[in-house]
Amino acid sequence: MGFFITFEGPDGSGKSTASTGVYEKLLENGYDAIYTREPGGIDISEQIRKVILDPKNISMDAKTEALLYAASRRQHLVEKIIPALNEGKIVICDRFIDSSLAYQGYARGLGIEEVYKINKFAIGDYLPMKTLFLNVDAKTGLDRISNRKNKDRLDQEELSFHNDVFDGYQKVIEMYKDRMIIIDATKSEEEVIDMCYQEVIKIVNG
Ligand code: TMP
Repeated sequence: MGFFITFEGPDGSGKSTASTGVYEKLLENGYDAIYTREPGGIDISEQIRKVILDPKNISMDAKTEALLYAASRRQHLVEKIIPALNEGKIVICDRFIDSSLAYQGYARGLGIEEVYKINKFAIGDYLPMKTLFLNVDAKTGLDRISNRKNKDRLDQEELSFHNDVFDGYQKVIEMYKDRMIIIDATKSEEEVIDMCYQEVIKIVNG
């Protein structure tokens, strides 16, 4: 069995840069790792990602959104994550269930418990071993992505939504204290990658 490690954080927390940076360092140092992301990671899930994030889909109902994320997660898990774990690999995954709990469960107001239930159906017992939470407040995160050209449907939400996402994450961190590692994501890109890499190495080397 490999190591299932996820990266979480608000939009603009630098999570994608940190997770790909860690993945590259793992490879450079001879570790057997894969990098993947949600929503997406494989063809069917990338197709679902397009539907969820298309700025045209403003009429999407919050439960539909939660179900689509869970559906995308299911396919990604069975097609990519489980096989890699069974081969003993380190799986670095940019977002997973905690994003649904914070964004759909808390910020969209569906309820963390309700969203957990549909995700439990989708993932069974496959929770991450450890989760690195890139800690940065919503305003700082949004400022960082403010000059992104192609803002997706969720990037376009108001600051109040992103503040709720941040608060939702705090609740999720409280629920899963033992799994969560908090990273100060206000530091430079290089420092953040380095801190995350050190944490991942600790997990892998026990
Ligand atoms: P990304 O910007 O990290 O690629 O993620 C796309 C957006 O999808 C981001 O705004 C967070 C959101 N999201 C959810 O709302 N729920 C989820 O379960 C996941 C995986 C992402």
